[in-house]
Amino acid sequence: MPTDPDLKKFAESAFAAIEAAADPQSLEALRVRYLGKKGELTARLKRLGGLDPGRRKAAGEILNRIKAELNERIARRRSVLEEAALESRLDAERIDVTLPARGQRPGGIHPVTRTLERMEALFMQLGFEISDGPEIEDSFYNFEALNIPEDHPARAMHDTFYVAGGKLLLRTHTSNVQIRVMQRRPPPLRIISPGRVFRCDSDMTHAPMFHQIEGLLVDEGVGFADLKGILEDFVANFFEREVSLRFRPSYFPFTEPSAEVDIMGANGWLEILGCGMVHPRVLENVGIDSERFTGFAFGMGVERLAMLKYGIDDIRMFFDNDLRFLRQFA
Ligand code: DAH
Repeated sequence: MPTDPDLKKFAESAFAAIEAAADPQSLEALRVRYLGKKGELTARLKRLGGLDPGRRKAAGEILNRIKAELNERIARRRSVLEEAALESRLDAERIDVTLPARGQRPGGIHPVTRTLERMEALFMQLGFEISDGPEIEDSFYNFEALNIPEDHPARAMHDTFYVAGGKLLLRTHTSNVQIRVMQRRPPPLRIISPGRVFRCDSDMTHAPMFHQIEGLLVDEGVGFADLKGILEDFVANFFEREVSLRFRPSYFPFTEPSAEVDIMGANGWLEILGCGMVHPRVLENVGIDSERFTGFAFGMGVERLAMLKYGIDDIRMFFDNDLRFLRQFA
């Protein structure tokens, strides 16, 4: 330490100021103040030249020692301040991973869509292609071409929604696609057609809009046994168990013979679909030679199958959008 009391005071107050610097900017200001070109210590060093050579050496040594000490203390203080700044930044930017999340629940696929997609996949495994058809249809495709003429009693069962002043209608079944596919392409044909259908009807087991999957296979030598095989395979896959099927004679204008298929449920037989051999008149309506080709068709309700599989007893549950219901299928 210098013996010159003035110099001693200077050094001590400089050290204290450096120790007290609260941030890197004020520390830098102090460095300039003492060690800059016009700094206080720099000025003292410059004044050495005016001293007589006898005192210059000792005084120079002291000043240089103070200079080194200042540099060292400034560097030390800087690293302390920088560390503290980093520390407080890390503290401020910390993410508290224990905070409860904002709770964005992922959406789920609607049980009807889920069932539909599964049914499609199972039929595709059996070699069926998917064909789409229009939901707004005219009565030729929905009725006449399917052998349901204007005055046919079966029309009454369809509870049709008419649109465009009665010129068009909302299809009452997916059977319209049978006609459109057969008009477009010659046999062999092996398609399913999933989609929405509409009927003016609503209760526990009927909704004004629901989904069906239509199936159609036309080729040479197709018989009822082929229909039975395909349906047995599909039903076992869908319900993931061996299911007893019952083919019950029925009537549809577009199939002959026709059947309704029941499965054995907990409380007896439950109807799941309608089917039959494509009526020769339907084939002739689209210009297919019914002497050479035969085919089978079937139509089933998607909601109905989902209800049986999941034990749902009211079809309206699918469309109420009650999340407590829908989440069970997520
Ligand atoms: N279209 C009929 C309905 O909606 C279901 C149906 C029955 C479709 C027999 C068919 C079939 O293809 O062969 O009630």
